[in-house]
Amino acid sequence: MSGGEPRGVAAPLAAGPAVAVAWAPGAVWFPARAAVAVATMLVAGCSAADRPQGERGEEVYQRYCYACHEGEGIGSRLTRRGLESYETAEFLYAYNRSFMPYAAEGSLTDRQYLDVTAHLLQRFGFADADFELTFGNGKGISLRPGGRPE
Ligand code: HEC
Repeated sequence: MSGGEPRGVAAPLAAGPAVAVAWAPGAVWFPARAAVAVATMLVAGCSAADRPQGERGEEVYQRYCYACHEGEGIGSRLTRRGLESYETAEFLYAYNRSFMPYAAEGSLTDRQYLDVTAHLLQRFGFADADFELTFGNGKGISLRPGGRPE
C-alpha cells in the first residue's frame, strides 16, 4: 500500500515507551536505548527530508489520485476554484485524510497526506514551491480567494 514509505512519525513514537522505562533508577542501559531511539528518528527524518515535500507529494498524487481525477476515473478534475471552498490548508488536509482516495480513505500514511496536500497547495498557487506543510501550520494557509483567514 504505502510502497515502503517510512512512517516518519510513528517510528520515533514507537521508541517512546522504551526510553521512558529507561529513566527508572539504575537503568544503566539508558544510553544505548536512547541512542537507538535517536538513530530511529534520524533515519526517519532523513528519508522523509531527502527530497522537497512538493516532489514527494506529486509522486503520491500520480500514484493514488491521478487515475480518478485526471484519468478515466470517477473524480472530477481538481481546480483552484474547487479547492478554495476548503478555506485552509488544514481543512484540505483533513478532507484528503478522511475521504481520499475515494473508497480507500485513510489508507495512506499521515506523511503522505501532508505531502500530497502540499503538492496541491503548490500546484494551484496557494503556496510557494519551497513551502513545507506540517501538522501545525496548515491553519495559517488560506485558500480563500481574497486573502488570509482572520
Ligand atoms: C477512486 C477514485 C478516486 C481516487 C483514487 C481519489 N479520488 Fe478524490 N474524489 C473522488 C470523488 C468521486 C470525489 C467527489 C466528487 C468529485 O469532486 O469528483 C473526489 C473529491 C476530491 C476532492 C474534492 C474536490 C472538490 O472540488 O471539492 C479532493 C481535494 C480530492 N478528491 C483529492 C484527492 C486526492 C488528494 C487523492 C489521492 C490521495 C484522491 N482524491 C484520490 C474520487 C477519487
